Amino acid sequence: MCGIVAYLGDKEAYPILINGLRRLEYRGYDSAGVALLQGKDLIIYKCQGKVSDLESHINGRSTTGSVGIGHTRWATHGPPNDVNAHPHQGTSGDLALIHNGIIENYAPIKEELKHRGHTFRSDTDTEVLVHLIDDIQRSEGVDLAEAVRLALASVVGAYAIVVVDRKDPDVMVAARKSSPLVIGIGEGEFFCASDATPIVEHTKNVVYVEDGEIAVIDRRKGLKIRNVKNQEKTPFITELEMHLEALEKGGYDHFMLKEIHEQPRSIRDCLRGRLNPSKGEVMLGGIKDYEQKFVNAKRILIVGCGTSWHAGMVGEYLFEEFARIPVEVEYASEFRYRNPIVNEDDIVIAISQSGETADTLAAIELAKGRGATIIGICNVVGSSIARVTHAGSYTHAGPEIGVASTKAFTAQVTVLTLMALMIGQKKGMLSGSNFYRLLNELDAIPDKVHKVLQKEAQIKYIADIYKDAANALYLGRGYTFPVALEGALKLKEISYIHAEGYPAAEMKHGPIALIDDAMPVFVIATKGASYEKVVSNIQEVKARKGKIIAIVTEGDTVVKGLADHVIEIPETPDALVPLLSVVPMQLISYHIAVMRGCNVDQPRNLAKSVTVE
Ligand code: M6R
Repeated sequence: MCGIVAYLGDKEAYPILINGLRRLEYRGYDSAGVALLQGKDLIIYKCQGKVSDLESHINGRSTTGSVGIGHTRWATHGPPNDVNAHPHQGTSGDLALIHNGIIENYAPIKEELKHRGHTFRSDTDTEVLVHLIDDIQRSEGVDLAEAVRLALASVVGAYAIVVVDRKDPDVMVAARKSSPLVIGIGEGEFFCASDATPIVEHTKNVVYVEDGEIAVIDRRKGLKIRNVKNQEKTPFITELEMHLEALEKGGYDHFMLKEIHEQPRSIRDCLRGRLNPSKGEVMLGGIKDYEQKFVNAKRILIVGCGTSWHAGMVGEYLFEEFARIPVEVEYASEFRYRNPIVNEDDIVIAISQSGETADTLAAIELAKGRGATIIGICNVVGSSIARVTHAGSYTHAGPEIGVASTKAFTAQVTVLTLMALMIGQKKGMLSGSNFYRLLNELDAIPDKVHKVLQKEAQIKYIADIYKDAANALYLGRGYTFPVALEGALKLKEISYIHAEGYPAAEMKHGPIALIDDAMPVFVIATKGASYEKVVSNIQEVKARKGKIIAIVTEGDTVVKGLADHVIEIPETPDALVPLLSVVPMQLISYHIAVMRGCNVDQPRNLAKSVTVE
């Protein structure tokens, strides 16, 4: 969703803010703005469009000042336009505020403030909050920090905010509830941001602000943190492990392409120190204390959204096959609203690349409240989900900037595979030889992914043929059904082609009606348990003149004789096929989107991290 960045120090704030906004732009990109304190003057520049539009808008105007705040917006209340862009101001014009989240009770507060003489320019909930702070500051005669605290006590919703006040230009106040906020601490300077990406090039020392906390950054007194009840907290400083190169495109045209190509390395990083095939060991340090809980679990619930939910579906097959534990996979957004039956013997695995997805966080809170053990699988170190779960395993995929998730998916599936194998072995569900074989096969996956990536030229050729399709169907079976869903999601989110994923056998129950000679059907038809059945499904599509693009095991001749195109992937056990077969799906979507002129890294209407419901 929105990205916020702020600076207070002795350098010029503007270049730091603009650079920070560029790094945060993957979070939301429909409008952008900055506010700068120039002595006791407050200057605001904002406009609809991207950060580059903001730069053009500002070009030639005054940008001095060593205190400032910046924002990239993903619209919730009111369309993307200049007026709704952040920062927003209250009636006095003294304050400027940026916000990521939603103020749910903004409407009654707005009505009340209107009665008190406030007038509003924008449609946003954010403007209501800054008016409220402004009103409290003036009516109660309190400083900015206290006005923020009092205002937040009457607000319902999610927020990460930063506010500055031209009456006190040496102070900046930030606060969070259910939306991420990180503070960077440099030499006589401070940074605030939605995530560490704008901070890492300035300092590695950060404080993750907790829910309900207010951070007061004062040039003279440094950083102080208190909660909404006004109790002082000691800031806990941690060191970032992120590297700057991971935030650059590294010679690729897009982050998405770079991230697709990083997968041999990201999967290797995910396995490092955890998988030892020669000793027959899987070791997940993060969940070590919870192994017995897993072994005794009567049921595993997996929650996530989007791509993470698809990874969870692969997890269902893995845990049921290897550990013989029943698994239910739920969209986090549905789970939280259906009064689910959760009890103390349950293990809930929450999967999230960003670790900030609002629905997944809410599902965790619900399950935690009912006594379940919560295990996180997150990519972003120090993220909210990583902190609220009882234990977990990081995916170690490195920062994923492209909005379409790619390397995060394969890393999530890798962690789930390690977990399922480890628990299966501890439960005695896997024979020694089978366990060793699977560990060796898993160890070989990074090299096999590398081999799949070498098919890119062929995949690009196929993309060119189908780039103008209006619809596409994706079919898989067993372990590859979630991959079909993921393939369809990748295509639709970045190329805007309507695509559906289905279990191959379900095609006959409806979608087959859609098939004609203009319909590309992507089928995962690798050798394995369902191979013959999938071949029959391919016949059914061909009989209706559909175009088949099949992902097959190297050396396959049967499907080659039927399909319009085949993309070969190396042989691997069924359980590991998702890790290889998803890669051609990612590349097809990427190349089709580029050929259609779409902005693959920042597709329309989307945001990388969905921090509101
Ligand atoms: O950060 P999360 O993994 O929790 O995000 C969940 C979804 O929003 C995310 O996977 C989304 O579906 C991606 N854009 C898919 O490419």
